[in-house]
Amino acid sequence: MATRNQAQPALEAGPDRALEGKVSIITGAGQGIGRVFAAAFAAAGARVVVADLDAENAWKTADELTGAGYHAFAVGVDVSDESSAEAMVAATMERYGQVDVLVNNAAIFSALTMKPFDEISASEWRRVIDVNLTGVFLCCRAVAGALRQEGGGSVINISSSTVLGGRPNYLHYVTAKAGVVGLTRAMARELGSHDVTVNALMPGSVDTGIPRDSAQPSAVDQIVASQALRRRLRPTDIAGAAVFLASDAARAITGQTIVIDGGMNFL
Ligand SMILES: NC(=O)c1ccc[n+]([C@@H]2O[C@H](COP(=O)([O-])OP(=O)(O)OC[C@H]3O[C@@H](n4cnc5c(N)ncnc54)[C@H](O)[C@@H]3O)[C@@H](O)[C@H]2O)c1
Repeated sequence: MATRNQAQPALEAGPDRALEGKVSIITGAGQGIGRVFAAAFAAAGARVVVADLDAENAWKTADELTGAGYHAFAVGVDVSDESSAEAMVAATMERYGQVDVLVNNAAIFSALTMKPFDEISASEWRRVIDVNLTGVFLCCRAVAGALRQEGGGSVINISSSTVLGGRPNYLHYVTAKAGVVGLTRAMARELGSHDVTVNALMPGSVDTGIPRDSAQPSAVDQIVASQALRRRLRPTDIAGAAVFLASDAARAITGQTIVIDGGMNFL
């Protein structure tokens, strides 16, 4: 039986730079939540690939990070384009020789116009599904070989809490984000034997500073009033969970969806 005086190994709290040595691709990191993911991942010790359709914004983020002494570079990508997603992974392999984490954050979001579903054209519907759902599939497929080669890794897919409440006037967006949850669960089953975790985050309404239809002042007041935590969410509120899911502390968590909406919905 152990006595109080028996020597024990030194207490290990785990690394405070939880992503040290990990190469992380973050799509849509040229602005908004993705940009803050990039900063949080870099601060946690990751080498960050800032990927965005807007290559100029992607480079601004990457330059800010390297200017602060972190490791980062940018790549222009259209996640809905098969060869573009593959080129993003190839550029990462060329630069850093490995990929450990993929954050599927890119989406058509702040650029969306809210409208009743029967006013959404078929082409707009297809584009939103193409980027917000098929784009996640294509980026996962492009990176899967590299994650298997590493002997493990993490995929973090950004869904949305609009799926839980069925927010109106966004039918293509909400449908794509619901698809992301199904994709997350099925892919977790397929990649689990390779020690790759696949999880989703469901952010509530987040103030990114980028103007958008869904964040008009009256809507924002209603949203905050319906949260248990009566304050506007910030991108840093989402980034902590993403860093955690990418870290070794979350190695046994897969196929899950974490709701980060200030307590608007309870699963
Ligand atoms: N902000 C919120 O309140 C909120 C809430 C729930 C979920 N989300 C989700 O979080 C993520 C980030 O949201 P945000 O507010 O920062 O959005 P945002 O619209 O400000 O930024 C999205 C980024 O994705 C990029 N992008 C768009 N299409 C792309 C493509 N085809 N290929 C590559 N990049 C592309 C854009 O250039 C942009 O930099 C999105 O997936 C969004 O759906 C946001």
